[in-house]
Amino acid sequence: MRLKIIGSAAGGGFPQWNCNYRLSRQARNGAYGIESRTQSSLAASADDAGWVLFNASPDIRQQIADTPELQPAADGPLRSTPIRAVVLTNADVDHVAGLLSLRERQPFAVYATDEVLRVLEANPIFNVLDPSIVPRRVLPPDEETAIRGADGRETGIVVEGFAVPGKVALYLEDTSDPQADFSSDNGDTVGVRVTNDRDGGAAFYIPGCARIDNRLRTRLANAGCLLFDGTLYANDEMIRAGVGRKTGARMGHLSMSGGEGAIAGLADLAIGRRVFVHINNTNPVLDENSPEHAAVRAAGWEIGRDGMEIEL
Ligand code: MLT
Ligand code: MN
Repeated sequence: MRLKIIGSAAGGGFPQWNCNYRLSRQARNGAYGIESRTQSSLAASADDAGWVLFNASPDIRQQIADTPELQPAADGPLRSTPIRAVVLTNADVDHVAGLLSLRERQPFAVYATDEVLRVLEANPIFNVLDPSIVPRRVLPPDEETAIRGADGRETGIVVEGFAVPGKVALYLEDTSDPQADFSSDNGDTVGVRVTNDRDGGAAFYIPGCARIDNRLRTRLANAGCLLFDGTLYANDEMIRAGVGRKTGARMGHLSMSGGEGAIAGLADLAIGRRVFVHINNTNPVLDENSPEHAAVRAAGWEIGRDGMEIEL
């Protein structure tokens, strides 16, 4: 199985269009050791021919342009795509807005939990993908689902989705309740175990996660590869950077560092390869010369980059 990180940044991308924080400025200026990144998405292929996308980011047009494997084959039909299906891990803008760019009456299949499919259904703009051409299919929790294209043919990619601690999408927050924290762990946000139906090498892709609990730790023990929520380095980073008022916890994202963070929470598990994805434009690890970058690398984690490939 081949995995390709086609977008390693969180919502907004890096640099973010309206961001004047030092990291976005340095990325715009081409500073040494600071690489631009597009918004959160992963591509997987079992046969090097058909591809399954995990999340469809607002940058999908650029991501396809940057990824020859995702472009129509030179000898293919006049309108065609190797993208056979899109699996959604939540309904956040950075994970679903790219669906709108995949219109043009091109068949592929969309897979998501009941909760996320209900969000698509409630937003008629997604009807630009006519469900008779782009079928929407339920990804049932905690069981293996063979991902099929719109034509019903198997892609060879098998996915098990499982709820993780998260939050409803930002645009669904009902702010009339001052006590609400909008947290959810019932399918609004899922992680996925991705494998092929042949040699069985598995990867976990979890771009959003609010907390590491025992269920998740049990699931991840002995994983061959983990692509995990690397939104923030520190919980209060956006506040300290002066760009926002929210902590990571309030946004449904745990941090890389700290006692409750991903590095500490998973340190004792045997995991083959650990890669942070969904990296926010305030995260100091985006600067390869930073002490935070060095600390994350020393802890055995890789920092996801656009175009990074993983073979399993
Ligand atoms: C998130 O990951 O928290 C969301 O993508 C935020 C957003 O929708 O802007
Ligand atoms: Mn996001």
